Amino acid sequence: MTKPRVVSGMRPTGRLHLGHLVGALQNWERLQQTYDCYYFVADWHALTSHYASTETITADALDNAADWIGAGVDPEKSTLFIQSQVPEHAELYLLLQMVTPVSWLERVPTYKEQMEQLADRDLSNLGFLGYPLLQAADVIIYNAHYVPVGEDQVPHLELSREVVRRFHNFYGEVFVEPQPLLTPTPRLPGLDNRKMSKSYNNTIDLSDTPADVLKKIKQMYTDPKRVRADVPGTVEGNPVFIYHDAFNPNRDEVDDLKARYRAGTVGDVEVKTTLAAAVNTMLDPIRARREAVLAKPGYLREILMEGSKRARVVAQETMAKVRAAVKLEY
Ligand code: TRP
Repeated sequence: MTKPRVVSGMRPTGRLHLGHLVGALQNWERLQQTYDCYYFVADWHALTSHYASTETITADALDNAADWIGAGVDPEKSTLFIQSQVPEHAELYLLLQMVTPVSWLERVPTYKEQMEQLADRDLSNLGFLGYPLLQAADVIIYNAHYVPVGEDQVPHLELSREVVRRFHNFYGEVFVEPQPLLTPTPRLPGLDNRKMSKSYNNTIDLSDTPADVLKKIKQMYTDPKRVRADVPGTVEGNPVFIYHDAFNPNRDEVDDLKARYRAGTVGDVEVKTTLAAAVNTMLDPIRARREAVLAKPGYLREILMEGSKRARVVAQETMAKVRAAVKLEY
């Protein structure tokens, strides 16, 4: 019995943080038990918005892959690879462009949103418009059944299915229509209670040292109305307690801290030092695996090249069918 296939990718645009861990990596790790998983570094996708400064992409790719393995993504169980090492993605992307109306891409919600949010970047390039179509190629070239993604990516999967149907109408059945695999994950705010983002400088990174983590958590935003330790505070929506709920497995400690916070009988220092201890305990094994991987020269590169080779075999099989369907066989 073969396992259903899962494909997912991540753009190498900097260090990974707790948001990536909770929002993606913990899920990637779990899925390995049930699915045949393909996880890749979406370096071409990083280029669609970061084309003006490309010098950090390959280093970020390797660093991110170290974090994936740190988080329990296992190269023995899953195929880990690099998008640009499987150039068949680009060939399929080109062929999909023939059957994709430009208006379908213009109406994808992330397109206008990102243009507005990243106003300091010039995103009028064709590559950025094509982002979701390249993503469709990434997924369908492996006949993926499921794609673990966040809520914001659901329209991209919708587009993938529409493009698959249109391709099938012209050329006959070739692909599997991919479905999103949504796992409800708690939204982690950044340290300053804004959205967690590298550009806001409000993240805890998986590669942070225990001392970094303590320092960052000590500066974390809490209930602003609570000017002294004896003022009753609000627990709901308070980032310090959202993090306690997400990372502190000692429920009794968390309940006790919440009760004393509400009553105004606990100081921020105690709430924060216990949180830092919990986060560090959670991160310790991730750091250890990450360091072990980085300590072996060439190991990561080898894993990713090996994985890319395996992925490429599957991608080439699909492309043979695609070329036959389009009647481009010589
Ligand atoms: N767009 C995804 C993101 O920003 C990254 C990505 C690229 C992806 N290709 C993919 C995710 C294919 C899933 C499948 O998170």
